[in-house]
Amino acid sequence: MSTPAAGRVLLEMSGIGKSFPGVRALEGVTLSVREGQVHALLGENGAGKSTLIKILSGAYGRDDGEIRIDGERVDIRTPADAERLGISTIYQEFNLTPHMTIAENIFLGHLPTRSGMVDWAQVRQRSRELLETLDVHLPVDTLTGTLPVAQQQMVEIAKALNRNTRILVMDEPSAVLGERDIENLFAVVRRLQASGIGIIYISHRMKEIFELADEVTVLKDGRYVGTRKVAAVTMDELVQMMIGRELEDIYPSRRTEPGEVVLKVSHLAQDRLARDVSFELRAGEIVGFAGITGSGRTEVARVIFGADRPTAGEMELFGKPYRPRSPRDAIDRGVALVTEDRKRQGLLLKLQVFVNTTISGLDRLSRFGLLRLKDELALVNTWIANLRIKTPSPEFVVANMSGGNQQKVVLARWLSLGIKVFIMDEPTRGIDVGSKAEIYQIMADLAGQGVAIIMISSELPEVLGMSDRVLVMREGRIVKELARDEANEEVVMHHAVGHEVPAA
Ligand SMILES: Nc1ncnc2c1ncn2[C@@H]1O[C@H](COP(=O)(O)OP(=O)(O)OP(=O)(O)O)[C@@H](O)[C@H]1O
Ligand SMILES: [Mg+2]
Repeated sequence: MSTPAAGRVLLEMSGIGKSFPGVRALEGVTLSVREGQVHALLGENGAGKSTLIKILSGAYGRDDGEIRIDGERVDIRTPADAERLGISTIYQEFNLTPHMTIAENIFLGHLPTRSGMVDWAQVRQRSRELLETLDVHLPVDTLTGTLPVAQQQMVEIAKALNRNTRILVMDEPSAVLGERDIENLFAVVRRLQASGIGIIYISHRMKEIFELADEVTVLKDGRYVGTRKVAAVTMDELVQMMIGRELEDIYPSRRTEPGEVVLKVSHLAQDRLARDVSFELRAGEIVGFAGITGSGRTEVARVIFGADRPTAGEMELFGKPYRPRSPRDAIDRGVALVTEDRKRQGLLLKLQVFVNTTISGLDRLSRFGLLRLKDELALVNTWIANLRIKTPSPEFVVANMSGGNQQKVVLARWLSLGIKVFIMDEPTRGIDVGSKAEIYQIMADLAGQGVAIIMISSELPEVLGMSDRVLVMREGRIVKELARDEANEEVVMHHAVGHEVPAA
């Protein structure tokens, strides 16, 4: 629980409007942030959150409205304007230059000079101090490209602090982090808050908003819905504001009668990341894989998908030996992996929605002759409707879609292929609650049609809500199998971390 912030109003955005060709992204939006406040921004995928903060940070121009800082009207036209006004933004895709060191990144564009020469001693010293305030213990000469995301994020924060930031904007900062890194991020956010910085925090995870934020502003379809004190609002109310209806049970009720064994994995190993993993997956089953980051879940998934070669062990698919040489091979045999990293593994950002949803299916559609564009478009439109993908048309370029909608395009692509075994690695990361419920329903429908699903997720409630069985991995091994009615958060965490269960 954070202390109620009584600071002065730092930032006021009012009547903000913004259009893109064919899209009214924002209209009449208001946001006001106080000193020392964490202000959450909430809304469905495509609601306009990222657009609003891009206007604040000078990445986009606005069509209407005004911005005031300390009560004074300001004109933000470029990122440099925003920076001068003390506004720093940490985007979902970090802006670090990978082949530069931590210190160089922190001082990028601001290198101090002494008699015409860059004062490297000062750069290093100051970088060291900044990292220390964030509890990061790394040599400042480390190349940022080699750092894990959690540490890259801390370097971004250090960079912001070095610029006398008064307003720090974070666009879904937790979406790329595991449990422990999130705790660490929260500690840092609270410290920044205590120093008087006003923080705008975007997240789809309600739990975080209740834990971290003082106030929350909700957007829907580019419009301002309202602002509430977190202490005086309920989760149901927020969901109602976001999606305009009540969401009863986000997990569909299912009756599972597992069928034949579809996939059999025996003594599988992949270097040190996965060691001696054995399990069976039946038709119509949803099996949840729980575990902390690095427990080997993603590695097992990649081997099943043919992205990595196993160093030991056997697999069988429908009773026949299965050794995919490549993802292509796996897909041809009906096995798909939906990844968490839509930027790197999933999407062709520069291309249109329809190309992205069918690219893996292109050969299939064209196998018997020319590509039949009409079939393709019909298929795409079905998925756009089913997944409620927010796009003006199938020809829209994916890079211009909101983050969550890009994630849905990834899913649509696979769904159009007629897959028998689905591995879903963090399938709802960055997806709003309303759409999550839809994805869960799609998973349930697929299982109902006999598709077998492996679900990897760091969100325990979703693992527990969706799985028929939960397999807990730790240090490359399956350490526990739990039936649906034996599994709860405490038991799963206990096995996931070993014996010590961290205090909540
Ligand atoms: N550069 C652009 N060109 C065209 N349309 C855009 C552009 N940027 C955003 N949009 C559109 O503006 C709308 C709002 O998108 P925005 O990225 O702000 O949503 P969001 O609330 O951040 O969603 P998410 O939770 O999925 O990240 C969407 O319909 C999106 O497609
Ligand atoms: Mg966004």
